Amino acid sequence: MRVVIANDYEDLSSRAAMIVAGQVCIKPKSVLGLATGSTPTRMYNKLVEMHKSASLDFSSVVSFNLDEYIGLLPEDEQSYHWYMNKNFFEHVNISKDNIHIPNGISKNIAEECQKYDQAIQACGGIDLQILGIGNNGHIGFNEPDLKFEATTHKVELDLDTIYANSRFFKNANDVPRYAISMGIKTIMQAKKILLLVNGQNKAEAIFKTIFNEITPEIPASILQLHQDVTVIVEKEAAMYLEGKIA
Ligand code: PGA
Repeated sequence: MRVVIANDYEDLSSRAAMIVAGQVCIKPKSVLGLATGSTPTRMYNKLVEMHKSASLDFSSVVSFNLDEYIGLLPEDEQSYHWYMNKNFFEHVNISKDNIHIPNGISKNIAEECQKYDQAIQACGGIDLQILGIGNNGHIGFNEPDLKFEATTHKVELDLDTIYANSRFFKNANDVPRYAISMGIKTIMQAKKILLLVNGQNKAEAIFKTIFNEITPEIPASILQLHQDVTVIVEKEAAMYLEGKIA
């Protein structure tokens, strides 16, 4: 893993945006794996700025989001559809036909999951996958478990995740209990991975991701096996990494 320590959230976001922009410049038809949550928000703002000021072109980009809550309509302000539209898609020239987000209101979730993986395969796989990390070491909504789930699947959210994400809802009872998430194999098949880690509350999770033995109980630890992972860690999140990485 290539670990970069950023001075602050702004620095993390600039570096992340530059990596995504570089990917899109080098390969305009890139397949991007996209993440939601508070961490990548500023990175999306910066990509929008680059689109407006420097004509960064997303017209040929294809995107696949990592996850979506089950039961929220796309126009629900807490859905990841809404997050992506408001923070990114509405402001750049990505083609609507090229956007993929799991359908959390599908009547047949198992079929939705299977079709999602097939669509990723049909596009040749993901070129650059952006990831955040949960306090519990989850990536996407792959929660700590006794085994890794390979493909896109229905997940029961961890209490930890429900509590962490309740800040976006009126209260914890409103947080959906289930979600659809890309699986670990799908994520690991991405050609490049960019993991963004912000805030002191992620310090333990990123320490374990890098230094723990690989275990499904810390889902992000599997990234140790990927050959091209860049981790951008903001200074406070990197508090346990000091003196441990070159
Ligand atoms: P956050 O979430 O960016 O809102 O901290 C990341 C995650 O849970 O994967």
